[in-house]
Amino acid sequence: MKRTPLIAGNWKMYKTGPEAVKTAQTLAGLCSDVQNVDIMIAPTNLSLPLVSRAVEDTNITTGAQNIYSESQGAFTGEVSAEMVRAAGAEYVIIGHSERRQYFGETDESVCKKIRAALRAGLKPVLCIGESLEERESEKTFLVLDKQVSDGLKGFVLDELDTLVLAYEPVWAIGTGKTADVNQVDEVHQHLRSLLKRLFSDKTAEQTRILYGGSVKPENVTELMGIEDVDGALVGGASLDADIFINIINF
Ligand code: 13P
Repeated sequence: MKRTPLIAGNWKMYKTGPEAVKTAQTLAGLCSDVQNVDIMIAPTNLSLPLVSRAVEDTNITTGAQNIYSESQGAFTGEVSAEMVRAAGAEYVIIGHSERRQYFGETDESVCKKIRAALRAGLKPVLCIGESLEERESEKTFLVLDKQVSDGLKGFVLDELDTLVLAYEPVWAIGTGKTADVNQVDEVHQHLRSLLKRLFSDKTAEQTRILYGGSVKPENVTELMGIEDVDGALVGGASLDADIFINIINF
């Protein structure tokens, strides 16, 4: 099965609404000829409806960076999957390491949010990754296996048709350090066989597994050349359209 690569920009807590729209419009102009690559940008929730509207008739889609698992209710400060979908998002990033690290996200809350995303028709981008300490103590696979199996606990095969997995080693995020080709290759192969073991051949074959962590124009070609790398989740280098386009054109 041929998997369409997905190049996604996680804009984190950067850009006001007007700034986000401007970057999105510039990017739309630069990538109008891009084919056979799915492009997604995830601005803040405040910019999401504005950016979604700005890219409506382009080949760019949008995503949210987080959702709450309930569809509505007395949950001050939260935003639901349905609201994000209504704002124009096609994807939602779930379980990013910054959310796990600073906002108490757990595999259990991740699992509920994936269920919520699917309920609302959003494509979940499940983020997993080990810390430096975990890698150095050779716990990488143990950590990743737990994040995947607990994050996807209780799902049946067909539900996961739109799932995207993003491997983001915590030590490579925003540090300028990229995992080397062998490390990425090993993990991505492992994750695909894990999906096969937990779900089915079909799920394993169709699930796009992205790499994230200091992806830039200088290293994207090498990373995208790895067989089981189906795209990139890009932080810093996605904020500038002139740089991000060089990643999209890997
Ligand atoms: P950087 O590309 O800035 O390392 O961030 C990666 C990331 O966290 C994407 O979600």
